Amino acid sequence: MKKILITGGAGFIGSHVVRLFVQKYPDYHIINLDKLTYAGNLENLKDVENAKNYSFVKGDIQDKDFLKNLFEKETITDVIHLAAESHVDRSISGPMEFIVTNIVGTANLLEVARSSWTNDGHIFYHISTDEVYGSLGDEGYFVEDTAYDPRSPYSASKASSDHLVRAYHHTYNLPVKISNCSNNYGSHQFPEKLIPLMINNIKHNKPLPVYGTGKNVRDWLWVEDHARAIDVIFHKGRIGETYNIGGWNEWTNIDLVKEMCRIMDEKLGREPGTSEKLITFVKDRAGHDMRYAIDATKIKNELGWVPSLEFEEGLDKTIDWYLENEDWINDVTSGDYQKYYKEHYS
Ligand code: NAD
Ligand code: TYD
Repeated sequence: MKKILITGGAGFIGSHVVRLFVQKYPDYHIINLDKLTYAGNLENLKDVENAKNYSFVKGDIQDKDFLKNLFEKETITDVIHLAAESHVDRSISGPMEFIVTNIVGTANLLEVARSSWTNDGHIFYHISTDEVYGSLGDEGYFVEDTAYDPRSPYSASKASSDHLVRAYHHTYNLPVKISNCSNNYGSHQFPEKLIPLMINNIKHNKPLPVYGTGKNVRDWLWVEDHARAIDVIFHKGRIGETYNIGGWNEWTNIDLVKEMCRIMDEKLGREPGTSEKLITFVKDRAGHDMRYAIDATKIKNELGWVPSLEFEEGLDKTIDWYLENEDWINDVTSGDYQKYYKEHYS
């Protein structure tokens, strides 16, 4: 039987991946290993927490002895590695936690997998970001062999972890897979990231902080489509390969924020144009990457994956989810979030 360790399963993307695997594969046992930092929340997994094929372990990937014991005790057959510090702004104000979790934590998992897996048939699947490729101008797309050029402490830490994963494949023959995905959006995303932050602020009539000119471009993908891509790569992707995952869906930040204002004016019964007045241009992010855009041809041609949802529908669903889940928002924005918000946006 497969015993799959999903790290970071209580976070935004991880919780969608855990849910998909627990519900779709009753013959697998899914172990969710998460440190439950500010970004991890077991509320995200209420609907699967009692499933027979699911268990949760609280732990830190920075602790190699703990990982070693877990691999021995549970005979882990595969790893899907999502645990990370994930927010660029936090990596600018405090890079060390990113370096320790994202680089050393990944190295710990690789070491333990290497020493525990003495036979064939395992998969170490590392989840990464398109930010490792750096920043694009107006033209072009990131493909799988675009040279790495990370520019924030976050993307540099993810790039380092990708290099380590590839090195363990080439040097020790560890059976690895990597995917690099564009910006995700959807339910359960911590409201420090653009889309949930704006939804929350629009709802409460708070200023909408747009960095710099607002002309930076991101390629948005619905989180459940990312989880579907992870399922396909885990089962059908080739060992040693990298797959780029993206939404073919580029938006400038300012156009996206205006679109969210328009939809929410309608949903909240406000006069058209009301929420847009909240837009406030603020100091730019240090080293702000201009444009990310993924060419997702390889995963389409090789594995048949394409996004399932139009952005308009996904954004609408996402806004509804945040409006209907006030308790979740209140929970995660109490305490530490208030402090972060004050420090970052004052
Ligand atoms: P997130 O911040 O929402 O969740 C990260 C999870 O990791 C949390 O549950 C947290 O508690 C856990 N974690 C953090 N440090 C840990 C540690 N030391 N030990 C164990 N658990 C720890 O992040 P996310 O947005 O869900 O991203 C998940 C993964 O996907 C990350 O590796 C990220 O780099 C990658 N990714 C994210 C995006 C995106 O748009 N959010 C896009 C591409 C790739
Ligand atoms: P974010 O959601 O932090 O993702 P990433 O930096 O990993 O792409 O930010 C998305 C874009 O939105 C990015 O260009 C920065 C911008 N942004 C703002 O303009 N204002 C904000 O308050 C935030 C959080 C982000």
